This record gives sequence, structure tokens and C-alpha cells, in this order.
Amino acid sequence: MSETPNLSSLQKEGEIFAPSAQALEKAIVTDFDALREEANANPPAFWERQARELEWFEPWNEVVKWQASPPKVEWFVGAKCNITVNALDRHVQNGNRNKVAFIWAAEEGEAVYKEKKVTYGELLRRVNQCANALKAMGVGKGDRVTIYMALTPALPIAMLACARIGAIHCVVYGGFSAPALRQRIEDSGSKVVICSDMGYRRGKRIDLKGIVDEATRGLHEVEKILVFRRGHTPIELHEPRELDWNETLDAQSPHCEPEVLDAEHPLFYLYTSGTTGKPKGIVHVHGGYAVGTSYTHKICFDLQPDDIYLCTADPGWITGHSYVVYGPLINGATVLLVEGALDFPDPGRWWKVVEKYGVNIFYSTPTAIRALMRFGEEYPAKYDLSSLRVLGSVGEPINPEAWLWFHKNVGKGNCPIVDTWWQTETGQFLIATVPSYPAKPGSPGKALPGIVADVVDREGNPVETGKGGFLVIKSQWPAMMRTISGDVERYNGYWELIPGCYAAGDVATKDEDGYFRVMGRADDVMNVSGYRIGTAEVESALVSHPAVAEAAVIGKPDPLKGESIKAFVILRDGFEGGDELLKTLTSHVRVELSPIAMPAEIDFVPSLPKTRSGKIMRRVLKAQELGVAPGDISTLED
Ligand code: WTA
Repeated sequence: MSETPNLSSLQKEGEIFAPSAQALEKAIVTDFDALREEANANPPAFWERQARELEWFEPWNEVVKWQASPPKVEWFVGAKCNITVNALDRHVQNGNRNKVAFIWAAEEGEAVYKEKKVTYGELLRRVNQCANALKAMGVGKGDRVTIYMALTPALPIAMLACARIGAIHCVVYGGFSAPALRQRIEDSGSKVVICSDMGYRRGKRIDLKGIVDEATRGLHEVEKILVFRRGHTPIELHEPRELDWNETLDAQSPHCEPEVLDAEHPLFYLYTSGTTGKPKGIVHVHGGYAVGTSYTHKICFDLQPDDIYLCTADPGWITGHSYVVYGPLINGATVLLVEGALDFPDPGRWWKVVEKYGVNIFYSTPTAIRALMRFGEEYPAKYDLSSLRVLGSVGEPINPEAWLWFHKNVGKGNCPIVDTWWQTETGQFLIATVPSYPAKPGSPGKALPGIVADVVDREGNPVETGKGGFLVIKSQWPAMMRTISGDVERYNGYWELIPGCYAAGDVATKDEDGYFRVMGRADDVMNVSGYRIGTAEVESALVSHPAVAEAAVIGKPDPLKGESIKAFVILRDGFEGGDELLKTLTSHVRVELSPIAMPAEIDFVPSLPKTRSGKIMRRVLKAQELGVAPGDISTLED
């Protein structure tokens, strides 16, 4: 993120979509502009009002304490709470004990689908049993627990059980390979790992326990591994280190008093890709995070008491944390968990699920929509989607074409599409329009109430309307990250780039109506199918292969994935580039990091463009690749 991007928005100002009558009828926020103005006049008072909707053991004596340099924030200072009380106990006590919290639509291999429902009452009891089991393993307040699981209700149960006792969960997405998992277990210093024996995808079994075995081999800090076995093919466990989830939980009491925690007590670490080096463990806390996620979940989706809500994200990512687990549960929603791929057994899978359960709110990603678009309109047309009321999108810019397809074929022209801009670091939505507000395809809209966002140049001056610049946030918000685990420097960096602002790392434009449009990342982070992948991670996976001397990686525009990965590789002496090695290196990245990080292209090159100080100039490679001017190359070595 070295210079001010000199870009104008490439997308023309598109159509404006007024909210449908159906959207207006259920609107929670009816005058978005008025609410934003009111909130922005006094953001702490506004957020305090939202916080009063939740339960606290003890109130705060100050809403927010912000120190600009070095950056440090606290919300609801002095308050005591536990996020699980708001997500569980509150509903059980308020007459919703038998309301369904999760409906799990599972993939169980070759065209076998299973279903399971868990009520709030059952969820609380199981969470408590898991919490007691963790305690029995010696896990206490502040201890870290890594969770590596398939999408089953056991995953949110494990997360909530950690939160119940003040332990810190570190969920690692089930698509990461053993070395990537090991790095996260080590970095977090987890003493317990909770995993599933297997997951299913397109009828195939994924051996998650095998990956955990490899990741924890010789890691003596990991004292216990709790294994959720899906039943029909019990794998062998090695006691006393390995324990069976069902046996262990069944033996515990379903009562467990929630730990009384400071509002600022850490709830989780979630690893995400940054510009350089290893992934960053973003830290979120109990109090502010509960307020920020639940409020935005409610107003952006117009959540009604009997809605069925489906978010297609995996809880291994921030979207799953904030908008599958915590936000929806705090709001007492019924959440549908759909395991498996969107096109298995056929591309009607999600629409069939929508019809079967009468889904009202459907929240997904542009990559998924583009993939489904490819299969044609006949799949959504085959099913009754009339229950849908609000659609959502997240993770990357949604191109207007995909937006319009989604609107017409899934929403039948009646459902607003709420495009939500946010990040692992922000914890909650920051830019999004509510359903009752006009939408512009391709734009997440305006900043939400209580959030001050802008597009600025390197010095922090607002750029002209329609011109590209850095997307920044000038206010604080309750669910913002509190630090980066073990790396305060990198945390501070977010506020050091542009004076007085949080720099998100995105380049964006703002139009005359105040609608933002995100054009992409300003740094070395790639957005592949909505997954954040650092160029540095892929490069380090490549150079860990004996044939590779040096590697540089860039993201290239891709019509389906948003970006695809291209690698430039310098080979060591004695190695010859060719198809065979290309395949070897691609699968090496799959094994070292993840299938989602595999390069789509690898070029074998004799040299790489570098600065005089030896830093690879990926920008120059990218410009060459795209056939555009590389910008300032005065620091280029030769
Ligand atoms: C991108 C995902 C355009 C953006 C919640 C951001 C988006 C990064 C949108 C964060 C959107 C997310 N429109 N771009 N609606 N939502 N992004 O941490 O580049 O995985 O900085 O969080 O995704 O990715 P992360």
C-alpha cells in the first residue's frame, strides 16, 4: 500500500433499485438517512442504546475509550458479561427454549442427506456439557482452543463452550492443510484441539482427523484432542490424549454457570492473511462484538422472529463467526447450516433447501452467485423460492451482472440485495444499505449508522467524487478488533498509514450520493473466490519446495473467482521447468497451505523485478501481466 491509487471507478453509474413493497413492509429501519445522521451526531450514545438491548452482569461506566496513538480501544468499559448469556440463556429464559436455533442439512456422502434440528434449550445444555468437559481437561479462562471441524452443529457448540468458560477459540477452516493448521495451533498456543473425524464434500470424505494427526505430531503443548465422530465409521482414538466427543460430553452435567467476564475479555482469535509474513491472529472480545454483530445482523436483514436464515459461509471464516453463530444467535434466529458444495448433487442444492425449509433470508457470496449463474436459470426456476424476502452478499465486490442475475432469478425482482462490506478486522458490517433503502448494483452502499467512512488520499484528504482512493474509517465501532495476537506492531499499522484513520487496505470510490464502490485491495492480499490469501503465504509455500529458489505471486482478474493466483518461480540449479514440475508445485501448495491457494498459472522465470533493497515488486509483474503501465518504478533495481 505504497502510493495513492490513481484510478477512477471503471463501473458506470448503474441503475438504482428502489425497495420493493415487500421490503418496506418488514423494515426495521425505515429512515436510514435520518438514523445515520442521528447516530453520527453522537456515536457512543447510539451504540449505548444498542448495548442496552443485551444482558450484562454489570453495566459499563464509560461507553468507549479511544486512544489514537498508539491505537487502543475499549468498549463498555468496566462492564461484565458473557456472550453466551445473550446467545443462549436469554432465549431459554424468555420463552424460546423450544425454538429451533440450528437446522443442519448435512451431506452424508453419495447422495445421502441428513437433517438435524437443535433447539435453544438443547443447544444450551450441550454447550454446557462441552464447557464442563473442557474444564475437566484443564481448560480455563484465557486458554486457547483450536477448533478444526466440518460444518455440523458441533462446531458452533465447541465455539460457544469455549466462550462459556472464558477460553479463547481459534477456529481454523477445514480446508486448510496440516502445515497451515500446525502454524495456527502453535501461534495461538492452544492446549486443546477439537476436531471432526471427517467432513463431506461432493460425496467424498475429507479426513480431518488425519490432518490433525499430522499437524499435532510432536506438538507436546497440545494436551488433548476431542474428536467428534460422525458415527458410521468410527475411527480409532488414542487415549488418554484423544477423547470421543459424545462419550466425553454425555458424562458431563448440562449445567455450567457462565464465567463472569470483563467486556474486553478475548472471545476468539481468527487468523487472516495480511500483506507480509504469517497470518494474523485477529482478536475480538465478548462485549463490543456482541453489540456490533447482533445490531447489524438485525437491521441489515430485517430479521423477524419466525424467519429461517441461511448464510452459506463456513464458521471457519469471520462471516461464519459473526453472521452464522454470534449475531444470529444473539438475535434468537433460526439458522440453517448447509453442509457440502453448492453444486452437489446438482446446482439446485441450495434452492432445494430454500424451498424445503422456507428460507426467508439468504446470505451468500458473489463467487457462489457467479458459479450458479453458469449453470443457467433453470435451477432456481425449478424450485419455489417465494419464501425469500432479503438477499445478501459479502466477501468481494459483486459485479452488476451477478447482482442482476441474483435479483431476478433468486429474488424474483422482489427481494432487496444487501451488499455488506466489512472485514475480519472490523468484526461487523460497516458499509451496507438496509433493505428499505435504494440499492445500486455493485455498490455496498453507504456507511451504517454510527460509522464514519470515507475515500481519501495518502495524506488523508478526501478525494474528488468518483475518484479512487483509500477506503478509511474515521470512527470507532464496538466489534472492531482489539489487537493482533503477539503482534502489536501490525495492529498499529492499520492506523499508521493514513493520519487519523483506520485504513482497511481496500481502494474504493464514492459517488455523489455517498455510495461506496470497492475496487479491490491496495496491498498484497488477493481475494480468490472471496477468500483472503496473502501473496506471502503462497510464496512461502512455493519456496519450501526443494526445486524453488524464489517465487513471486500476484492476483489476476478472473471472471469467476474474482481473482486467480499466478506465480513466477525461479528454479534452483539442476531443476528444469516443465509440465511435470508445474503439477508438482501446484500440489505442493495444496498440501502446504490449502486447495484454495493453488496457483492457476506458474511461469518459470530467470529473474524477478526487485527494489534496490531486494523487495520483490509484485506491482511490476502485475502491470506486465495485465499490459498496463507499472506506475512509479524509480526504486526498481534494473
Ligand atoms: C473484501 C470478509 C467488496 C474487501 C467479510 C475486504 C468486499 C476483504 C466486500 C475482507 C463487499 C468484503 N464488497 N469487497 N461487500 N466484503 N470485501 O477479512 O477487500 O475475509 O477488505 O472479511 O474482502 O475480507 P475478510
